[in-house]
Amino acid sequence: MIRVGIAGIGFMGMVHYLTYHKLRGVKVAALCESNLKRLKGDWRDIRGNFGPPGQLMDLSGVATYTSIDEMLADDSLDMIDVTLPPALHAEVVIKALRSEKHVFCEKPMALNIRDCDRMTAAARQAQKLLFIGHVLPYFPEYAWALKAIGSGKYGKILGGSFRRVISEPTWLANYWKADQVGGPMLDLHVHDAHFIRLLFGKPHSVVCRGRMREGLPQFWQSQFDYGLQGPVVCATCGTIDQQGRPFNHGFEIHLEHATLMFEFAILGEKGDYLMKPTILEGGKVQHPKLPDEDPMNAFTAEIQEVLRCVRQGDRSETLDASLARDAIVLCQKQSESLRRRCFVRL
Ligand SMILES: NC(=O)c1ccc[n+]([C@@H]2O[C@H](COP(=O)([O-])OP(=O)(O)OC[C@H]3O[C@@H](n4cnc5c(N)ncnc54)[C@H](O)[C@@H]3O)[C@@H](O)[C@H]2O)c1
Repeated sequence: MIRVGIAGIGFMGMVHYLTYHKLRGVKVAALCESNLKRLKGDWRDIRGNFGPPGQLMDLSGVATYTSIDEMLADDSLDMIDVTLPPALHAEVVIKALRSEKHVFCEKPMALNIRDCDRMTAAARQAQKLLFIGHVLPYFPEYAWALKAIGSGKYGKILGGSFRRVISEPTWLANYWKADQVGGPMLDLHVHDAHFIRLLFGKPHSVVCRGRMREGLPQFWQSQFDYGLQGPVVCATCGTIDQQGRPFNHGFEIHLEHATLMFEFAILGEKGDYLMKPTILEGGKVQHPKLPDEDPMNAFTAEIQEVLRCVRQGDRSETLDASLARDAIVLCQKQSESLRRRCFVRL
């Protein structure tokens, strides 16, 4: 039985808690949360852009803490799941690794590369596993693309464009603060940066154009340069000033013998495909049937991968901290390009 302590019971802490409850061989044995109402099980005020609403929870049998250090002192815990705001990731992850626990930390890994490197070094020194919660490869459309590309059936990958443009998430505190959340570059685009890194490796340079808000990129378009013979990769991301589209993402991926496409959005309250998953191949247009698109299923698959790796002492190909660090590098270089209006080498 893997015993987990969750640090931070907000939207993601709740999503992870509910997910562990569906799985075998794992128990949420401890929670740490500074909000006493939530620590006592009143989760009714928790909100995010998907998943079930927060409810009154029965937390009997779960040790509850307001202090991270006290939870980390519990030697019976095997893993700490960090679902705290991004500004706290580095400090808490490093402490948790030093207390000899494996760590699963939500994205973004940290707000700067120096902290990512400190976290990776702490994992190496402690000889513990560090996973970063990049859930996108577990969403059915992205898992479909990874499988299709990996099969080799459609030939070489030639490039892709990736989109993620949402209404400003006004419910998130400190969104436009570089030292707290980092705006849409680190909160939102980091998902696609990770996926781009997973599919294409590291580009030679990036160029980014767009508009800024409060010193941070607000809406932009980026090109990732992989050299003359390399794939053609671009991304559009950011927030718009109108409410009504809390979620939107999609891609168009070009292979030698197929093009894969999809776009999904929540408009108002309703989530729907703007373009259902589509493959163009050999003159035919087909719509593969993908598993249920409920985002909660993606978290189940992601956490199953974490638990598999902990049981087998493996690193994860998708959730490994080195990939997550590269995603932060890609984000930082795009921000620099946008600010300085130039190509930035990696
Ligand atoms: N993978 C995804 O799709 C996804 C979606 C949303 C959020 N996230 C990530 O999850 C993380 C958390 O985001 P969220 O939306 O759940 O935030 P949130 O603000 O809803 O929750 C954070 C919780 O941490 C608690 N907290 C803050 N400081 C604390 C401390 N020192 N000790 C104990 N508790 C403390 C807060 O009271 C709050 O309940 C972020 O890194 C975010 O980027 C990922």
